[in-house]
Amino acid sequence: MPATRDEVAGWLSFQARGCAALGSPFYGSLLESAIADLLAGGPVWDILGGREGESEWSALALRLMAAVHRLVLLDEVPALAPHYPSVGGDGDADAAWPLFRAALVDESDKIDRLVRLPCQTNEVGRSAALLGGFLEVAHRAQLPLRILEVGASAGLNLIWDQYRYESSRGGWGQDDSPVQLVNMFDVPPPMNRAAEVAERKGCDTNPLDPSSYEDALTLRASIWADQLHRLSLLDGAIEVARQMPVEIERLDAAEFLERELPRPRPEVATVVFHSVFMQYVDADSRNRIQTAIDRAGVFYLRMEPAYPLFEIRLNDELLGTCHAHGTHVRWNVDSTRP
Ligand SMILES: C[S@@+](CC[C@H](N)C(=O)[O-])C[C@H]1O[C@@H](n2cnc3c(N)ncnc32)[C@H](O)[C@@H]1O
Repeated sequence: MPATRDEVAGWLSFQARGCAALGSPFYGSLLESAIADLLAGGPVWDILGGREGESEWSALALRLMAAVHRLVLLDEVPALAPHYPSVGGDGDADAAWPLFRAALVDESDKIDRLVRLPCQTNEVGRSAALLGGFLEVAHRAQLPLRILEVGASAGLNLIWDQYRYESSRGGWGQDDSPVQLVNMFDVPPPMNRAAEVAERKGCDTNPLDPSSYEDALTLRASIWADQLHRLSLLDGAIEVARQMPVEIERLDAAEFLERELPRPRPEVATVVFHSVFMQYVDADSRNRIQTAIDRAGVFYLRMEPAYPLFEIRLNDELLGTCHAHGTHVRWNVDSTRP
């Protein structure tokens, strides 16, 4: 049964607060205007109402924002460009709102089709949250890493070792990387550790190819339009990925791990990892994933929501917390101390 108007308004409201809290006043304000429009039965409700299979976890609000952003990036709604910072606009949400609403009417067929697409992000900042976990495994195992990512999207966090990280405890990674992760750490993990990635592979039920124009556009459209630092990290990571392609199989996570994990690989430390992925997986698949990991006895690193923060866990251990996009990493453990 389709969600009620009040339910959809609640999802938009949750996302509006999230965007505002995570440094996107432009999307926070546009979504607040969208809620009022929806409750009045305006074009927002025409687009979002009556959809089967939606839930609080299906990211409907972000899918709406990504649909319009995609048209802005394609210059298909030129009236919005002067206000969208991602194309040089001023970020004035009050001025943008009536034009946004008009676009929902004028481009309703296109937007309706685009809103059907899943929320397909690949958040490069999450590499900063995962970095300390990979370094911790390398430190404990003293072996090269074999990293397997489930829900990898375009695989941009599978090449975390090609990026540069700066923190108050020093830096890590490639000095001249086009991806410079600075100001990500409130309490950084130990940085004075070496790690070598011997093998990397991922899976996703809907993998994106960073070398394809269409897929890169999908990723760019899903970035909040006033967050230029995230866009610049994404563009840098796409550049790295194009020089260093990584295999992302179109495969369900449980099937992937049931195939990859049973054969022992004592010469490497195998790390299964994921970020902002579990909410899309049903209970049966969750059990299969956990069973495959437990049976193989491999390292299991993940960054997942525990609202209002996100937790970074290695096996059963809480390593630290961060915000949704990998910022404000606050490390809890320090195995360098006696
Ligand atoms: C919110 S995105 C996060 C992508 C990436 N991990 C990141 O942090 O940027 C969730 C991803 O999980 C993928 N996904 C959802 N269910 C899946 C499943 N059962 N097996 C593999 N991938 C799945 C989606 O296609 C999507 O790319």
